[in-house]
Amino acid sequence: MNNIEIYYFSGTGNSLHVAKELQKRIPGTVLKPIVSLLKNDVIKTQGKTVGFVFPIYLTLVPYPVRCLLKKIDLTSADYIFTAATRIGTFTFADIYFRRMLKKKGKKLNSFFLLNMASNSPTGLRPTPGDKNWVNDISKEKIDELEQVVQKELDLIKKAVLNRDNNPVKIPFTPFKNMFEKIMSSLIEVIKTEIKYHADSTCTSCGICERICPSGKIKIVDKKPVWQKNVRCFYCFACFNFCPEQSILVGNIYTEKKGRYHHPDVVLKEIEGQK
Ligand SMILES: Cc1cc2nc3c(=O)[nH]c(=O)nc-3n(C[C@H](O)[C@H](O)[C@H](O)COP(=O)(O)O)c2cc1C
Repeated sequence: MNNIEIYYFSGTGNSLHVAKELQKRIPGTVLKPIVSLLKNDVIKTQGKTVGFVFPIYLTLVPYPVRCLLKKIDLTSADYIFTAATRIGTFTFADIYFRRMLKKKGKKLNSFFLLNMASNSPTGLRPTPGDKNWVNDISKEKIDELEQVVQKELDLIKKAVLNRDNNPVKIPFTPFKNMFEKIMSSLIEVIKTEIKYHADSTCTSCGICERICPSGKIKIVDKKPVWQKNVRCFYCFACFNFCPEQSILVGNIYTEKKGRYHHPDVVLKEIEGQK
């Protein structure tokens, strides 16, 4: 039996970086890519300590992580933690995890949040005000955030090894519980299509198809096509990893202003989650 397992999902590398750094710090940690596991009918943990590392999307837990959580058999786990990466907004992810784990007769022992770089102009749908996004992904800003992340990773390591319960106190509010249920139900039924397209600089390299964790992108007649019948995970990997910056969103964010992925994570690693 592996001692510690970390299940992760990452679109642009922030969460994968966190998972890898925890693996470096905690001996015996095995990393499990969530997307590849979703194909299995049965997903069974092996570790006594189980962690989940993922980004926050629209204050919530991303779709593939929610799918995993519904399926996973956590019998082996007697200590469960999450480390969620985000820009820094409020989140319902802790409440969601607590609710889902309770259904499985388990509890969330520790919940950590790490503030990291934003991987998309507004998260979901860029607006003209997002032109400043490029400043937020400058090397200086990313280095600044990383210094704090490194300190937080040391604290997470300590808490996980000590099996501390809830070292981060999050105030309990009944309204937050109620809103989490409403938001989580809405996100299950609302499937907003992001208006991606590739412009004439697309070289048909196929990276977007390879990297897309949901399998939504297919190269058709040498151009990426976002298929309507496949659910987007909203990870922004295609947009950020396109080497030509050919992938644009709607009619607004059409300038080639730079893209973001975590500097310590390479394309192959994101692709390797499938
Ligand atoms: C669709 C989408 C929605 C997002 N929503 C939020 C949010 O509600 N709050 C927040 O703090 N960050 C939000 N973010 C930022 C990501 O959580 C953040 O950049 C994260 O570290 C990305 O992780 P990854 O590189 O592992 O994919 C959002 C990003 C995307 C793509």
